[in-house]
Amino acid sequence: MNRMIRILSALTLLAPLAACGAQQSAETADTEEPAVTEEAVIEEAAEPEETKEEGKALIAYFSRADENYNVGVIEEGNTYKVAKEIAAQTGCDLFEIRTVNGYPQSYDECIAIAQKEQDKNARPELAETIDLSEYDEIYLGSPVWWGDYPMAVYTFLESNDFAGKTIHPFNTHEGSGSAGFEAKLKRVCPDAEVTEILSIQGAEAQNDPDRVKQAVADWLK
Ligand SMILES: Cc1cc2nc3c(=O)[nH]c(=O)nc-3n(C[C@H](O)[C@H](O)[C@H](O)COP(=O)(O)O)c2cc1C
Repeated sequence: MNRMIRILSALTLLAPLAACGAQQSAETADTEEPAVTEEAVIEEAAEPEETKEEGKALIAYFSRADENYNVGVIEEGNTYKVAKEIAAQTGCDLFEIRTVNGYPQSYDECIAIAQKEQDKNARPELAETIDLSEYDEIYLGSPVWWGDYPMAVYTFLESNDFAGKTIHPFNTHEGSGSAGFEAKLKRVCPDAEVTEILSIQGAEAQNDPDRVKQAVADWLK
């Protein structure tokens, strides 16, 4: 059985646990002395092809480069590729949801750590925080990890107040599709509006910029 099938099989078992995660008390992952920067790191978007006129929006994303399923060793994560395309089309700034303790370059080691974090319902410490009060809309991007959000995304969601904001979720995956992310978001952020998710296969996000561009354009309409 190849690794992805094993992951997907395991997910069937893990999904109910993950669904309860929002109600459980968060357990902070063990960390070494962190080099935490309190300032948010915002990557300013290039000139947009089209600027939205509505409330101020931010693209917040979690993404991992290095070795990954179906794409080999990559310099830019799949979700980041999509995030950059959204930035190009909207003019929104980018914020990376990044953990103090990064993840291993090796895919095998990474999935093992990710599984442990999910089992513990961990909340990995984030390297940067951001004040979301000035943003009305958040484009929230993430890969699927073990059928769920990486635990760091829950750290991000639970450490910010999304009441009254609109979340536009997008994700990349290798078979799990949207992995029920919209429902998970509604559970964790009950006072936010959650719009329809954009789901793109990871290898396509990595290797087919034209399709990503079109998919993002269709989604933003
Ligand atoms: C730790 C880990 C767990 C994963 N679990 C799943 C999964 O359950 N379902 C799935 O479709 N893809 C899974 N994948 C594949 C990623 O979702 C996919 O490669 C995604 O595009 C990675 O995005 P990124 O490069 O932005 O991190 C997993 C990848 C990793 C590293």
